[in-house]
Amino acid sequence: MSLGSEIIFVKNLTSTNSHAIQLLSLKKLKEGTVIQTNYQSAGRGQPGNRWESEDGKNLLFSLILYPSKIKPDEQFIVSMAISLGITDFLHRYIPAASIKWPNDIYVNSDKIAGILIESSVMGSDIEYLIAGIGLNVNQEIFKGNAPNPVSMKKITGSDYIVNDCLTGLVACIDRRYNRILSGEFNKIKEDYNSRLFRNMDWFEFRDQEGIYTGKIREVTDSGTLIIEKRSGIKIEYSFKEVEFIL
Ligand code: BTN
Repeated sequence: MSLGSEIIFVKNLTSTNSHAIQLLSLKKLKEGTVIQTNYQSAGRGQPGNRWESEDGKNLLFSLILYPSKIKPDEQFIVSMAISLGITDFLHRYIPAASIKWPNDIYVNSDKIAGILIESSVMGSDIEYLIAGIGLNVNQEIFKGNAPNPVSMKKITGSDYIVNDCLTGLVACIDRRYNRILSGEFNKIKEDYNSRLFRNMDWFEFRDQEGIYTGKIREVTDSGTLIIEKRSGIKIEYSFKEVEFIL
């Protein structure tokens, strides 16, 4: 499987994920097709959030996947592979890049990339999976209300050719995705857990009961996060049930 052999580029879109869903409703696209744009008028983030990106400065694309051997309740493994692919790519320039559970890409305490995975399930199978990726490349000023955006340029001081980043990044995702296709789930899970933001020490977290100090233990196969409290009690969280205190 070689991802990125077909690239559909449209100068302006509402959202590459929305465009992908629309195209898939009309015809089947080849696995690994990339839908890329320079500007999104309604870029979508995690539910309730927008994704801000200055025209032509960053990477904005969606990748079409058909992970037919993966069941809907195992699909977090794809999210793990994508997060690993992005950090593999970033490590060439920014060794500090890490994965903030579940799938934000961070450098120190700032967010450099976001992933929006949307899938369609038919019966007990994944019909398609769209991995929407926004990587901040050359943008220097962020005007939206995202709390802590950063870009490759802001960190390294260098300008990058956005399309070279696309080629490099898709190749890194391809390597990780092929590992899951060949059944190497354990390697992906191990690498994902070892690359997690704040996985080595005690940090503050907030849940519905308040702020406490805890240590990340692991992310489970279904994508829940297990944090151990100082008392030794382990708590399992779904997305949005716990917040990192940055
Ligand atoms: C997040 O909130 O962290 C997820 C952000 C995902 C943004 C990307 S940009 C390309 C693709 N199209 C969208 O509308 N969103 C994703």
